[in-house]
Amino acid sequence: MTAAVTSEPPVHPALGPLGALVGTWRGDGEGAYPTIERFRYVEELTFTHDGRPVLAYRQRTWDADSGAPLHAESGFLRGPADGRAELVVAQPTGLVEAAVLHVSGGADDLVLAGERATLTRTPGARPVEDVRRRFALHAGALHVDLWMTFAGHVDTHHLHATLLPIDPEERGTDGR
Ligand code: HEM
Repeated sequence: MTAAVTSEPPVHPALGPLGALVGTWRGDGEGAYPTIERFRYVEELTFTHDGRPVLAYRQRTWDADSGAPLHAESGFLRGPADGRAELVVAQPTGLVEAAVLHVSGGADDLVLAGERATLTRTPGARPVEDVRRRFALHAGALHVDLWMTFAGHVDTHHLHATLLPIDPEERGTDGR
């Protein structure tokens, strides 16, 4: 019988500056939209890898006051080629997103600026037309923004969160 390999492989060099995202990030966020009340939330984002030029992506959020689970999503961030990375994400609301993100800067000052991604939707999903995301790593903090086109509001801001790296041992179920 062959023993399982337990040591973590190195981050694939083709990931370039995206390797700086590997780990778990947590922090506070604020959401808004013209159709809803402003709200506050806690977000946890995890990027993992297995040595291939792709990062697995998992996001969870909780209501900042009650700790109740809110939105969650998971997918993959595919390594950059010609300055473009690719994000594929599935959401529990029945939305599926495939986006191109323009990568600039290095590991210390990284920006992933997404194009507006048209969504594929299950029949029961809310009719969100497109989503645009931005990830920016500045001075050790990961800033996440999201805009969407919904209910006649074109490319309108929905979310902003500022996340800091955490030790995986600290990961909690309520995001605190
Ligand atoms: C791609 C990601 C997301 C999409 C497409 C999305 C879409 C939407 C839509 C369509 C609405 C309904 C607006 C209305 O009823 O007029 C909504 C509301 C809301 N979203 Fe998001 N959202 C996303 C991510 C998140 C995240 C990460 C959170 C984190 C807390 C969040 C929290 C909320 C809350 C609290 C509401 C108001 C209550 C509700 O309608 O459920 N959303 N979102």
